[in-house]
Amino acid sequence: MKVIIVAGARPNFMKIAPLFRAIDRHNGILKEGGERIDPVLVHTGQHYDVAMSEVFFRDLGLPNPDVNLEVGSASHAVQTANIMIRFEEVCLREQPDWVLVVGDVNSTMACTLVAAKMGIRVGHVEAGLRSFDRTMPEEINRIVTDSLADLLFTPSEDADENLLREGVPADRIKRIGNIMIDSLLFNLEKIRARETLDSFRLQRKGYGLVTIHRPANTDNDAFMRRLMEILGNLSSRLPILFPVHPRTRKQIALCGASGGFGDGKNLKLVEPMGYLDFINVLDGALFAVTDSGGLQEETTFLQIPCLTLRPNTERPVTVTQGTNKLITLQTLEQDVEMILDGRHKKGMIPDMWDGFSGERVISMLAEQAGN
Ligand code: UD1
Repeated sequence: MKVIIVAGARPNFMKIAPLFRAIDRHNGILKEGGERIDPVLVHTGQHYDVAMSEVFFRDLGLPNPDVNLEVGSASHAVQTANIMIRFEEVCLREQPDWVLVVGDVNSTMACTLVAAKMGIRVGHVEAGLRSFDRTMPEEINRIVTDSLADLLFTPSEDADENLLREGVPADRIKRIGNIMIDSLLFNLEKIRARETLDSFRLQRKGYGLVTIHRPANTDNDAFMRRLMEILGNLSSRLPILFPVHPRTRKQIALCGASGGFGDGKNLKLVEPMGYLDFINVLDGALFAVTDSGGLQEETTFLQIPCLTLRPNTERPVTVTQGTNKLITLQTLEQDVEMILDGRHKKGMIPDMWDGFSGERVISMLAEQAGN
């Protein structure tokens, strides 16, 4: 069984690593009559900076991509179209039995569209999440991908319900849990052995971690200026570490917020980090402020208070069960104050965030062999 596994952008890499491990395991313990799975790793090149891509391959022990489509950055239409044109050639050449896509980035949707039109079966890992906010490019990607995929591997009950409501037949929906947590658990010892936190002269549970990269936030000048002002204020209470996404760096400079905030010592704007370093500083943080999807889940797993600067989330279990809280800039300082006072909900770890999601995907895929 030949399976193309697609990854394109930073949040995809930690979701494909467990699939490769599970395939190795599957092939290693093949029973008589069982079918080997041959993976082909296609990197679309949506993310290309060393810090946004290569570091993750190294950190996660991923094989080098078999194919890199090298599409780079462009408008949504151009990026999506380029991925489609180049991915079609790969499918024609490789003739895969399945294409596995993960997450909700443009690469996820573009490759799904290509495969579905070529009659190649598609499995979507992290299916069914919905923010119900179509101003988010990711929401469009999720809806298109899920409406075309043959197998929908979901992380949670809400995802199953969303898909059923949209008319997806129940036998296509397979709950496998949270695959990103597989990577976190698998690497936790390595992560905790790193000295990233010390290299920034930070003390465990003595600082806040910030990441912001969604266009709805970064491309709003008033938001960015106010955010930087608030982070400057907060940094007089405790150090704030802010690894800055390339998009965010551009916007901070554009809106003129780059100077005059904080004392430059306690508000640390640093380059994007690799996986192991980033989870090391997350694990040591007292709290996180973010608009990332993945971080809402990683904080829930590590039971770290998370303040999410978004009006909605496609990952509601992080709010109902985990440590996540949706907030606005208006209450950010107050919310941090509550955390400093020890008044933030504790949260619990949701069901099936257990490190075996990748294995569930691969064993369900193997069951499809010969069908
Ligand atoms: C993409 C995903 C988003 C995900 C995020 C994680 C889509 C629609 N969005 O958003 O869901 O949360 O990745 O990072 O797929 N850039 C670089 N170097 C890189 C990559 C990007 O400098 O390696 C800059 C470019 O200026 C580019 C901008 O960042 O225009 C945005 O990159 P893009 O891939 O379009 O979207 P992200 O904001 O990264």
